[in-house]
Amino acid sequence: MNLLTQIRSLFEPALTALAPDQAKVPDLLAAIKPASNADHGDYQANCAMALAKALNRPKEAQQIAKEIIAALPANDVLEEPMVAGPGFINLRLKPDFLAKAIAAIATDPKLGVEPTKKPKTFVIDLSGPNVAKPLHVGHLRSTIIGDALVRILRFLGHTVIGDNHLGDWGLQFGILIHGYKNFRDEAAFKADPVRELARLYIHINKLFKKPDDDEEGATDDPLKRACQEETAKLHAGDPENLALWVQFMPACLEMLRPIYERLDVKIDHALGESFYNPMLPGVVEDMLAKKIAFESKGAVVIPNAKGIIPQTEEEQQKEEPPAILRKRDGAFTYTTTDLATIKHRIETWKPDALLYVVGAPQSLHFKTVFAQARRWGCEGAEFQHVQFGSMLGTDRKPFGARKGGTIELMSLLDDAAKLSLQKYEENSAARRAVGHKVFEPTDAEKQEIAEVVGAGAVKYADLSQNRTTDYVFDLDKMTATIGNTAAYMQYAHARCRSIFREGGVDETSVRTNPPALIISHAAERALVLQLLRFPEAVEAAAADYLPHLITSYLWDLAKSYSVFFENCPVLKAESPGLKDSRLLLVDLVSRVIKQALDLLGIRVVERM
Ligand code: ARG
Repeated sequence: MNLLTQIRSLFEPALTALAPDQAKVPDLLAAIKPASNADHGDYQANCAMALAKALNRPKEAQQIAKEIIAALPANDVLEEPMVAGPGFINLRLKPDFLAKAIAAIATDPKLGVEPTKKPKTFVIDLSGPNVAKPLHVGHLRSTIIGDALVRILRFLGHTVIGDNHLGDWGLQFGILIHGYKNFRDEAAFKADPVRELARLYIHINKLFKKPDDDEEGATDDPLKRACQEETAKLHAGDPENLALWVQFMPACLEMLRPIYERLDVKIDHALGESFYNPMLPGVVEDMLAKKIAFESKGAVVIPNAKGIIPQTEEEQQKEEPPAILRKRDGAFTYTTTDLATIKHRIETWKPDALLYVVGAPQSLHFKTVFAQARRWGCEGAEFQHVQFGSMLGTDRKPFGARKGGTIELMSLLDDAAKLSLQKYEENSAARRAVGHKVFEPTDAEKQEIAEVVGAGAVKYADLSQNRTTDYVFDLDKMTATIGNTAAYMQYAHARCRSIFREGGVDETSVRTNPPALIISHAAERALVLQLLRFPEAVEAAAADYLPHLITSYLWDLAKSYSVFFENCPVLKAESPGLKDSRLLLVDLVSRVIKQALDLLGIRVVERM
């Protein structure tokens, strides 16, 4: 049950009856929001001012507010609304309503989140690393954000297909093939192909005139040209190079596997660029036959809406995107591959929406691709570039622009785990020193805490930013045990669980047969309201593909919980009824935290 939706639905008939222009009703409803200050109530309807204007009675907003209230249907959700200031309507939920709602979420495995009324099929393009080379941090963001969206949309009852559009057909294979033919250590390759291929890739890259420059395109570097020639031979179907590609692919995928495993990310499909290679000539022919694309000076191009035909790839970087499908030398482009991919996805999965979780620098590419796909007849589906900003170093420079270009993700996750464990142990030592009872984990438990908290820190830091902005990758801040971090939420969860252990209470009874809610303190009421707002957060995150709305929610929940914890003894509550009621809230806090973190792909441990 979404509280906000429920309150808006009470206002809808009233506003529909009063508004002179029905088209404005959604805007008026959107002005009903959670109260910014709890002293003013739980929610606030700020629609009277706009309605007064629309009715040409600009000075009578207070009176209009009263008319809105008078037009509300009888209900057992809201106390009598109060008008404040120039015409704000303050709303407070009835205690009985809160008690019933809490009992309802206690027995609901989905904690009040209802399946969507309009289930859709989504294809989500996520991760998309260029295999055969060290994973780039940009692909880390795509993997983390993409996986969270898969989980959130699925939780709401949508059908979601995750597809990893691997870059498995580009210059990096020319580099490997050239390296293998000229520089390989046969014994090393036999013993450990993954390691030897990684070594060869790094070795060749260092020998380039411009190290780490593996962009395609004209070059005066003979070594790079040699690698490009190997790539061209591969694309032309040269049997030797094709056989090497087939031989290298498993090793390349093996380099990625441990990263996905550690991040706890499973992607349904991995149809990379190579999969679409055989379809590319057909795409171009079809586009030519439908007179969408034209031949121009030996290339095949799609003019933009103004009829301008690009002559170079640079010209394609203009605002109104035209596209090159086949270059003069016969090579197909990234655009052609993406068009083939769209056709395949639409035919195979018949999606309502195709989401591309890819960095902001590719926004022009997707604008082009989506526009051309629509002209090609792929209408009806929603195309969405779910873009994200860059990850910056603590020096505020993009990771990708620094020398080295990529950082080894595995070692980054190792560092996160190590630092998380260190902070955990410092925290435990500090608490032990002031006489607290502290959990003493075994070595295996310590290992698990390090992994769960470390990977959680990296993910949470990424997901707690509005994805469209750049963010600073600061391992020290993201592993902090206090503040809006994974560790803080994981601790809060474990602390809730420990109350049950300490009290020797079994949680199944509060879940199957929830005790009556008693609200005896403002902090208790605030916590109840926060717990009931979980569905609002999940639905808002799904609506705009913004996972940070879930972390913001978690942060608010954690703050309410901490005030509650300070003020409301649980095991030592004044009466058995109050103790049971508080245990119910504590159990719900832990369940909501665990579920919300799970939607972000972050795990918890029972004890820490
Ligand atoms: N491999 C690409 C890159 O690293 C990302 C793929 C994104 N997905 C797509 N369908 N183009 O830039």
